[in-house]
Amino acid sequence: MKKLTAIAFASGLAVASGQSMAADVDAGKKLYEQSCASCHGQKAQGQGMFPKLAGHSAKDTVQTLGWYKDGNQEALKEYDDSLGGSNFSIMAPNAAGLSEGDMENLGAYIETL
Ligand code: HEC
Repeated sequence: MKKLTAIAFASGLAVASGQSMAADVDAGKKLYEQSCASCHGQKAQGQGMFPKLAGHSAKDTVQTLGWYKDGNQEALKEYDDSLGGSNFSIMAPNAAGLSEGDMENLGAYIETL
């Protein structure tokens, strides 16, 4: 997975954020605790209708967050048929304000859980 992340960087994802080249796990942790833990759980373990995120690769997290941000419910459904349905609109606003750098940092942190 480290390799795939590096490829994503090389293709310009991180460059577009205008921030540092390496994903920042600490910044991801801080943002996660502020913006995501209330639903997905302190350790991203999931609860009820909120899916577990722990153990997802950084690449998958960046990709799915991008789909929420872009409103791409079809891609989400194809990725996992439990996503992109009636609960889509609960998650989408949480991705709307994220930069590419934020998504990379969140992905890097979630991958450590
Ligand atoms: C208000 C509650 C809420 C908050 C806050 C929230 N989410 Fe979600 N999230 C959801 C729900 C509900 C879903 C499932 C949506 C669906 O069915 O498509 C979801 C889905 C996801 C998924 C896809 C899960 C999978 O199985 O691949 C990811 C990744 C995700 N959220 C990341 C985050 C991150 C990162 C944050 C913080 C920036 C965040 N979420 C904040 C409710 C929330």
